[in-house]
Amino acid sequence: MINIRQAQKNDVSMLTHLARQTYADTFGDSMEPVELAAHLEANLSESHIELFVVDDVVLIAEFEGQMIGFVHFSDINIPVETPTSQSKELQRLYVRRDFQNRGIGSSLMDAALAHPLLKEAEYIYLDVWEHNSGAQRLYKRYGFEVIGERRFTLPSGLEGDFDYIMVRQGQ
Ligand SMILES: CC(C)(COP(=O)(O)OP(=O)(O)OC[C@H]1O[C@@H](n2cnc3c(N)ncnc32)[C@H](O)[C@@H]1OP(=O)(O)O)[C@@H](O)C(=O)NCCC(=O)NCCS
Repeated sequence: MINIRQAQKNDVSMLTHLARQTYADTFGDSMEPVELAAHLEANLSESHIELFVVDDVVLIAEFEGQMIGFVHFSDINIPVETPTSQSKELQRLYVRRDFQNRGIGSSLMDAALAHPLLKEAEYIYLDVWEHNSGAQRLYKRYGFEVIGERRFTLPSGLEGDFDYIMVRQGQ
């Protein structure tokens, strides 16, 4: 049985390790090592994760005391044309590689959608790498639809692949 709970400040160190490892496992082969290191430093340092935990909502999945996944959501940051004040964003859904394909991502998504921040949202947005078909399948199962795309810019300033922007209603 997994346990899902809201992250606290004392989870930041372990959460940072999990986030960086899962990002590198998933996207590391698609970028140069120097770009990967710069991206992790610019987006997933301990200070970023602490801000996510304090300012946004992070729910953690645990199995036998180990942190095996998390979901992070917040007010909307994706630049969409007509966000309402009730628009929210699913920022990250990460499951440790050796625990994927066991329903943990779906359990985290269920918990996120049941949380008041997303339950009361008019629209929930997210973005996902165009080549991340596994994540896209999960999001489509939950009713997210692609409404646009934007180019991912690498830390060096080079243009990368596209991210799809997806949206669904809160309830
Ligand atoms: C995308 C991600 C969050 C999905 O998490 P997950 O725990 O693997 O998701 P689930 O197990 O709920 O669903 C994945 C698949 O496993 C299947 N599955 C679920 N429970 C299962 C079980 N008990 N036995 C076998 N398969 C199962 C699902 O049907 C689904 O099938 P599909 O690939 O055909 O769509 C995870 O792969 C991940 O963290 N990837 C790296 C980071 C990432 O890409 N995040 C999303 C973009 S930000």
